[in-house]
Amino acid sequence: MGCGKVFWVGVSAAIITFFIIIPVAVHLNRTNDANKRSFTLDDYFNSTIKWKSYKLRWISDNAYLHKREGSVFLYNVETREESLYLSNLTFAKVDATDYMLSGDQKYVSLESNYTKQWRHSYTASYSIYSLDSSTFVTPSGIPECVQYFSWAPTGNAYAYISDFNIYMKAHVNSDPVQVTFNGKKNEILNGVPDWVYEEEVFASNEAMWWSTTSKFLAFLELNDRQVHSVEFTFYGSEQYPVTRAVPYPKAGSALPRARLLVVEAADPSRHREVEPPSSITTGDYFLSSVTWVTDERIAVQWLTRQQNHVHVQIYDFNGTSWREKQKFVQTSRTGWVGHYSPLPLFFAEDNISFYKVMSDTLGYKHIHHISDGVAEPITSGQWEVIYITKLTKDAIYYISNEHNEPGVRNVYRAGIGRSSAAPRRCLTCDVEKDRCQYSLAYMSYNASYYRMDCYGPGLPLFTLRDNRGAGEELMVLEDNAEIKNILDQFHMPAVRRGTLRIAGFDLRYQMMLPPNFKTSQKYPLLIDVYGGPCSQKVDYGFRLNWGTYLSSTEGIIVASFDGRGSGYQGDQIMHSIYKRLGTYEVEDQMTAVRHFIDLGFIDKERIAIWGWSYGGYVASMALGAGSGLFKCGVAVAPVAKWEYYDAVYTERYMGKPIDNLDAYQNSTVTSRAKNFKSVDYLLVHGTADDNVHFQQAAEISKALVEEQVDFEAMWYTDKDHGLGGAAIQHVYTHISRFLNKCLVRPQ
Ligand SMILES: *[C@@H]1O[C@H](CO)[C@@H](O)[C@H](O)[C@H]1NC(C)=O
Ligand SMILES: *[C@@H]1O[C@H](CO)[C@@H](O)[C@H](O)[C@H]1NC(C)=O
Ligand SMILES: *[C@@H]1O[C@H](CO)[C@@H](O)[C@H](O)[C@H]1NC(C)=O
Ligand SMILES: *[C@@H]1O[C@H](CO)[C@@H](O)[C@H](O)[C@H]1NC(C)=O
Ligand SMILES: *[C@@H]1O[C@H](CO)[C@@H](O)[C@H](O)[C@H]1NC(C)=O
Ligand SMILES: *[C@@H]1O[C@H](CO)[C@@H](O)[C@H](O)[C@H]1NC(C)=O
Ligand SMILES: *[C@@H]1O[C@H](CO)[C@@H](O)[C@H](O)[C@H]1NC(C)=O
Repeated sequence: MGCGKVFWVGVSAAIITFFIIIPVAVHLNRTNDANKRSFTLDDYFNSTIKWKSYKLRWISDNAYLHKREGSVFLYNVETREESLYLSNLTFAKVDATDYMLSGDQKYVSLESNYTKQWRHSYTASYSIYSLDSSTFVTPSGIPECVQYFSWAPTGNAYAYISDFNIYMKAHVNSDPVQVTFNGKKNEILNGVPDWVYEEEVFASNEAMWWSTTSKFLAFLELNDRQVHSVEFTFYGSEQYPVTRAVPYPKAGSALPRARLLVVEAADPSRHREVEPPSSITTGDYFLSSVTWVTDERIAVQWLTRQQNHVHVQIYDFNGTSWREKQKFVQTSRTGWVGHYSPLPLFFAEDNISFYKVMSDTLGYKHIHHISDGVAEPITSGQWEVIYITKLTKDAIYYISNEHNEPGVRNVYRAGIGRSSAAPRRCLTCDVEKDRCQYSLAYMSYNASYYRMDCYGPGLPLFTLRDNRGAGEELMVLEDNAEIKNILDQFHMPAVRRGTLRIAGFDLRYQMMLPPNFKTSQKYPLLIDVYGGPCSQKVDYGFRLNWGTYLSSTEGIIVASFDGRGSGYQGDQIMHSIYKRLGTYEVEDQMTAVRHFIDLGFIDKERIAIWGWSYGGYVASMALGAGSGLFKCGVAVAPVAKWEYYDAVYTERYMGKPIDNLDAYQNSTVTSRAKNFKSVDYLLVHGTADDNVHFQQAAEISKALVEEQVDFEAMWYTDKDHGLGGAAIQHVYTHISRFLNKCLVRPQ
């Protein structure tokens, strides 16, 4: 390959500019050190040694629901009164694990027999329960196996999907009306996404949208007939294993064809198409998002296959059809639109202008107000808005990393309209400053109240706050006091953060330093990598993970580095790897390792790299680079070759294979097989991985065998990309043993 040479380019320009050390346990009481022990692998698996969050659902501007001991309680923030809303006995009657509230809040649907499909999708059964009469509505008339259930936003109408067809009920007691009839597995899907729309376009199992007061229902119809299927064996336990087929467009191949249809709740037999603009239909395209503005106005983001051009089209209903009212087009000249996909639209009170996070002229993601097709920035600076969390009539609330570092998060409020002159305000910056530097918010309907979610760097803290005054804390919801005491008995790693200058950019790293760390000693190093476009591994979140064990018990320094391609620092850094995956995001990891060695406390004979998914790809590419830096490494469910991955993700960054053949061909792990002779490699993959197919590990294995490279491997039968169930403990135990042999106790 000779890639090793390429990787040295730009290395000499890199210098360490600063670093800081923050003990993870800053908020923990100091107890006698002698009584402390290290955090072990068993501790990592121990379910009582986990920090807690606090789940709630706002159901108005001042009330929320919270589930405790299996029952749902209603909490009124103004009166501070709590009442039983839905008893755990009711859940038990139908074996339910989740619930959803009807638009009029008079009924709940209870969900049981949750059966996972892909990352977001699942099937389940639903029972309808009346809160007024405390009885079940029987018979519900809902089939046993439902793919998606959705209450209308008003009244108690609902829609559900069974066997890829949509059914609607105008009222809980009325008869269901079948809305579509052409649904067929792996061919025509109504109201539910197919594999690639679920994973890469919507990142959800929802493809059906009620209008604001339930007059219309819009839904996606997907045609997968031209989409090539991937087939894999599911071993199960029968005499003959079964083969599963899933339509899955790989890079360069035929995409699902999308249509957006709207039916009127009063007459669901008439389907009206919301047609994509002709500028979009000249090539392949995606339906990226659907936003109802009013009952008779709908906004759709249509995205070209290349994903550098999005057409926001606003349509009005004229009594018979949906016609263009206004449009806004957005194009990226340096890469793709959005972090992954175009970000959502938030419509203003005028029902026609909207707010959206998009790149400004300097390539930083900021809030823009789009009016008459023209975008005006609301925020600006060399930092990014991560997302908008709430829009009210006089303010916009958003999360950004404006203060200090790319890996920090805070909640901000900016006045809009007549209030736009009011100064921008940070709601979370001054709350528990040491403990909270990664804070998000979940706002009530009109943002009068919010739950502040502080995820670190100290122990996570969840509080209820009043947003009408100075952000007064009303209640501590979860302060993790219990785990604080438990953690106090451990010797914990300290976190060191710093910056490396590479190719003119200041890029961040963080390290977990073993307890009693001394710069005069030499430590083994594990690089924990993800490295995918728009990823961020260096942040101010609290960490209590597998790395905590490796550092605390095995004395390994676990480090992560956000190189070129990483997110939330402007498009210049993120789009560096456009059309060239497998280059800078891999090289920068190795450059970082060289700098870590220069710090003086790394044993350069004991360095490893590991990653999962994209991280497994980067780890494999780095191990196969022939750099001589790594003694060993682990790849879990890695990509081997971009042509094997899905078209939506891959082409966003690489274009089609036919248009970028060289970059596809020289970014494979398999072509680096020979270089694996100089490293110890552990390759892990689930055989039922619907996302990164087992094919990818199989091809790496084949290439290594061809080159007579010895390596270790573990497959997980019938497990998917997340290696759930028993496999999760198994895989971490297995990798721990492998790494200990390589880094800690070499023979
Ligand atoms: C889990 O941790 C708790 C708290 O330290 C401890 O009491 C318990 O024995 C542990 N359980 C196991 C199975 O190790
Ligand atoms: C149901 O709720 C009651 C009262 O809150 C509680 O005592 C009981 O433990 C709960 N049952 C379950 C199975 O959680
Ligand atoms: C639960 O759902 C699965 C998948 O749809 C189905 O095979 C099974 O029969 C259901 N079980 C019950 C108890 O309804
Ligand atoms: C609505 O628009 C369609 C398509 O342009 C047109 O044929 C129809 O006449 C319009 N209907 C009304 C009531 O304006
Ligand atoms: C926006 O739409 C809502 C709901 O249809 C309506 O009540 C309101 O008057 C509209 N506002 C404007 C400025 O048109
Ligand atoms: C919440 O905001 C909506 C839309 O601006 C408004 O119609 C409603 O009256 C507000 N409710 C409260 C409680 O402020
Ligand atoms: C592929 O080749 C190009 C041109 O020689 C080079 O710039 C790039 O770094 C190579 N990519 C990889 C992954 O090695």
